[in-house]
Amino acid sequence: MPSSIRSIEELPLPGRRLFLRVDFNVPLDDEGGIADDTRIRAALPTIEYALHAGARVVLASHLGRPKGRPVPELTLEPVGARLAELLSVGEVVFAHDCVGDGPRKVVADLREGHVALLENLRFHPEETADDEGFAKELAKLADLYVNDAFGAAHRAHASVHALPRLFRPEERAAGKLMGSELQALQRLVRSPERPFVTMLGGAKVSDKIAVLEALLGRVDTLLIGGAMANTFLGAQGRAMGRSLLEEDRFPVARNFLHRAEQAGVQVVLPEDVVVAPSLSAPAGTVVPVDAIPADQMAVDIGPATVERFAAELRRAATVFWNGPMGACEHEPFAAGTLGVARAAADSPGFTVVGGGDSVAAVRAAGLATRFDHISTGGGAALEFLEGRKLPGLEALKP
Ligand code: 3PG
Repeated sequence: MPSSIRSIEELPLPGRRLFLRVDFNVPLDDEGGIADDTRIRAALPTIEYALHAGARVVLASHLGRPKGRPVPELTLEPVGARLAELLSVGEVVFAHDCVGDGPRKVVADLREGHVALLENLRFHPEETADDEGFAKELAKLADLYVNDAFGAAHRAHASVHALPRLFRPEERAAGKLMGSELQALQRLVRSPERPFVTMLGGAKVSDKIAVLEALLGRVDTLLIGGAMANTFLGAQGRAMGRSLLEEDRFPVARNFLHRAEQAGVQVVLPEDVVVAPSLSAPAGTVVPVDAIPADQMAVDIGPATVERFAAELRRAATVFWNGPMGACEHEPFAAGTLGVARAAADSPGFTVVGGGDSVAAVRAAGLATRFDHISTGGGAALEFLEGRKLPGLEALKP
């Protein structure tokens, strides 16, 4: 934790109302159920610490992107029910809004050692607008503020940015999850053990170019997979068939590869890929990257690439992984992502994984306990590694 930021242990919790910003932005399944409760579980140590200390806890989060209006499918009510099952102490009371008379009454009636969960903050457009008036309404609900929502720390939104600044420095702090996230990620930023291998996947070079640039001076090896690798391969002049790629980023990709070479950073791109006529195909075919048929698209990395990446991961002293290696949400094209998940888990180094799809692959393969740190933040972890200031952290500083 940046030393100037207080931790929750330093706050006078007994009998006080604590506004606890959490990231309960959980993935939902087709029926609207909670597909993965990792983020709820990850907040439990902070919630239970505050309850044991005798605080009255007011939890607030966003869920999805409802664009400033109530969307019934994005209510946090089922999250509250799941939280009630997971909590070892206290009861959870749900407030059907996050500002106004309703939540004020719920919080006024809240007994010590119990929890109120406010409705989705993003049902109000003022949340994403970082609106001061909205933050003042939220501030009426509490005496103290704690941010444990690492996954949302890169957003300058009212509950993350405007709100904490309405509390005095000695009334605001970071939660335990925030603390452990920062501890793990700081290890990657400050003097990571070498070799430092970073594996990036996902759809777009444009989403990841900033972090790629920032990593140039810091990592020894970059392993690039997923659809973003298609753009690099295309930029090198390979025929990519009908693969998803960003042709307008070819110059950026070429320039990056050139500068990586100058910086002595090894960039490893796929040597083989799985191709298919479409994402709904029941299976794919493995081909070298020089032989992608004109009517097919690359949908996963191939086995030779998995082995090549695994060899680098076996040698690594530090590993950071973000982003899937292919269309892993489709079972026939998940082998590459699962293969590198196993290889990263086997790495003898300090291993950190972040990002929804990569973390889901790690969990699906039963490998979660074999990583040193599973980050609850995708975008936030990338921005932290880029060296950018995160608004949610800045607002906690004195
Ligand atoms: C996330 O899932 O990365 C965080 O909860 C932030 O969500 P957002 O990208 O919708 O702001």
